[in-house]
Formats: sequence, structure tokens, C-alpha cells
Amino acid sequence: MAHNATSCSSQWGENIIVLPATAQLQALLTLIRDERTGRGDFVFYSDRIIRLLVEEGLNHLPVVPHTVKTPTGVEFSGVGFEGRICGVSIMRAGEAMEAGLRDCCRSVRIGKILIQRDEETAQPKLFYAKLPDDIAQRYCLLLDPMLATGGSCLKAIEVLLEQGVKEERILFLNLIASPEGIKNVQAKFPKLKVITAWVDQGLDAKQYITPGLGDFGDRYFL
Ligand code: URA
Repeated sequence: MAHNATSCSSQWGENIIVLPATAQLQALLTLIRDERTGRGDFVFYSDRIIRLLVEEGLNHLPVVPHTVKTPTGVEFSGVGFEGRICGVSIMRAGEAMEAGLRDCCRSVRIGKILIQRDEETAQPKLFYAKLPDDIAQRYCLLLDPMLATGGSCLKAIEVLLEQGVKEERILFLNLIASPEGIKNVQAKFPKLKVITAWVDQGLDAKQYITPGLGDFGDRYFL
């Protein structure tokens, strides 16, 4: 029998999980939001938040009973993960979250999706996707640090569904979300689970999250 390890929904609904706003998390977010934070510290503190997101994401995977014998000769009735997983990063910023996933899930398979704005239609367009062959049998941890309008996330989920992944088996891991982005993905994919560290005020005229932290990919990689 499968059951969920934890469940901690937010004011946004049962499938939108916001990490508890502990002092530690708020301090980490303050550091990466600060425009004076250089790349080394930005990477270090972002990676700490990413680790928290991955651990929380894993808490939402089903487990089955699993009994082991300890070196004391006594049995322990525990649990084991039920299904296989994979990561899928939305390039380029999502690639920053791959190492955090690997730190928790040794030898995890990681696919990649590149989505960019179509110059003619201004809609998000799929440019590249490389995914595990058996992705339809896996739980998918979809990785993108910033959920702004939700356009890329929506497109990426469409790609996963076309490959046979079940909506309820997709977990979207994200550092900062906008209310607009959450509403957009929730309206189209109500069974998707979103795990975010923080929900910000909204979007600015350039569709950046505000107060946000600027361009995550530039700050992490350049
Ligand atoms: N991507 C970013 O890097 N930052 C935002 O604020 C929105 C999208």
C-alpha cells in the first residue's frame, strides 16, 4: 500500500507547498536577493535553499512498508521509496538545481528542456528536449528557480505529459514564485505539485518577479 510521507499545503491550495518561513530560510533568501551579493555567495546560499526544496520534494513521493534487520539483530519496520524518479531541468537557470538533486539522489537521471520566447508569436516555444526513455514510468522533479508568468513551466509540463508522464507524478521545484505564476499553473494543471521556498508580491513591467532577485541564471552562472 502506498502512502504519502508528509503533507503540508499552503493558503494556495493542497498542491502548492510553500516551505516554512523559518528565520534560517528568510536569512538565506535575504542574502541571495541582496544586489551586493557576489556570485560565490549567491551560488553557496542558493544551493542551501535548493537542498531544502529537494528534501521537501522527496517528502511528497509515495513510500511503501520496508522492513530491515539492524546490526543488533532486531527488525525495524520502516519504509522505502515506491517509485523511480528523474529530474528535468528547464534550461538555463534550472540547471543550477541539478547538483542539489544529485546530492540527495545518487545517480539520478536528469533530462533537459529548453524553452524560449517565439519572436513572432511572443509565446513560449520548445527548442530542445532530451528526456529519459522511460520517463512515463517515473516521478518527475521539474526544476526552475523562478516562477514568473508560468509560461515556461506550462510548456515544460505539456512536453512531459506528451511523453506519457502523469500530471500527479510531476513535482515542480522552485525558489521564488509570483502569485500570477502559481495561479496560471494551478488553473491548467491542478494535480501538479508545486514546491516553492517563497511567494513574492508580483511581477514588474518586464515580467520579472518583484522584489525577486533579478536574473537567477545570470547571477548563478555569469
Ligand atoms: N527569471 C528570473 O531569473 N528572474 C525573474 O524575476 C523572472 C524570471
